[in-house]
Amino acid sequence: MSGSGYEDLEFISDLYDAIYDSRTPRDVRFFVDYAKQAGGKTIELGCGTGRVLIPTALAGCEITGLDLSAYMLKKCREKSAKLPPEIAEKINLVQGDMTNFNTGEKYALATIPFRPFQHLITVEQQKACLNCIHAHLLAKGKLVFDVHHTNLPRLIDPQFMMEMDVEPPMTLPDGRVVKRTSRTAAFHHDEQYNEIELIYYVQHPDGKKERLVHALPMRYFYRYEVEHLLSLCGFKVMEFYGDFDKSAFREDSPEMIFVAEKTG
Ligand SMILES: C[S@@+](CC[C@H](N)C(=O)[O-])C[C@H]1O[C@@H](n2cnc3c(N)ncnc32)[C@H](O)[C@@H]1O
Repeated sequence: MSGSGYEDLEFISDLYDAIYDSRTPRDVRFFVDYAKQAGGKTIELGCGTGRVLIPTALAGCEITGLDLSAYMLKKCREKSAKLPPEIAEKINLVQGDMTNFNTGEKYALATIPFRPFQHLITVEQQKACLNCIHAHLLAKGKLVFDVHHTNLPRLIDPQFMMEMDVEPPMTLPDGRVVKRTSRTAAFHHDEQYNEIELIYYVQHPDGKKERLVHALPMRYFYRYEVEHLLSLCGFKVMEFYGDFDKSAFREDSPEMIFVAEKTG
């Protein structure tokens, strides 16, 4: 079982914003609102290129971003450097592992936007992460994070092993055209994770073509499993949603979004 790929493959940080900016503001507004309400500093775990972190700072909130990948953090630093100084000074970036970090500070809010928690495959990693967060939160501090609502057919149906288009091809500002597909390369029902491949077909303006593969294991979770994990690590679930519009969790919800409070 390898890491999430972000720390080894530079091309992901290069293509990430172009691909995922289309997700904004679906989840960004949701996380920014919690930071604004927190009444103190936020730490974002797995902050990546700053897709959520930078709008959080622009909303006037102090935020520390922690990420394992030097490539993703480099992008985030480049973007932060272009901000007005009074915004840039609200941002603190740290390279580190969310299962074992110590920033020496306490926060009113911890967030893990866009599923980095699913990169933690074992229960030991998940508990280590939650225990680290607990130690970094002020009394009654909050933890807000989303994971995929597990789609049962995707766990067993061999058709998901075929490459499928994720979104229409997109043209980047430098003229490259990127088409992305995804497939499940292997199921691991015994350890509750899938091996996923995100495949990027890049056509350069000079005609050069590339096929770039981001292979990563993705843990999948069930609702009560996450509640139990949180309870085991000193958190109580205060809010639970099925999407970023705060709709109630239902059988067909795309997300599982937990808002937990530090109890111990
Ligand atoms: C899907 S991206 C999410 C980035 C950002 N939160 C967003 O919403 O765009 C996942 C990020 O988690 C980071 N990551 C994966 N495992 C990690 C770990 N153990 N500790 C810290 N960051 C990790 C990756 O480097 C990557 O930047």
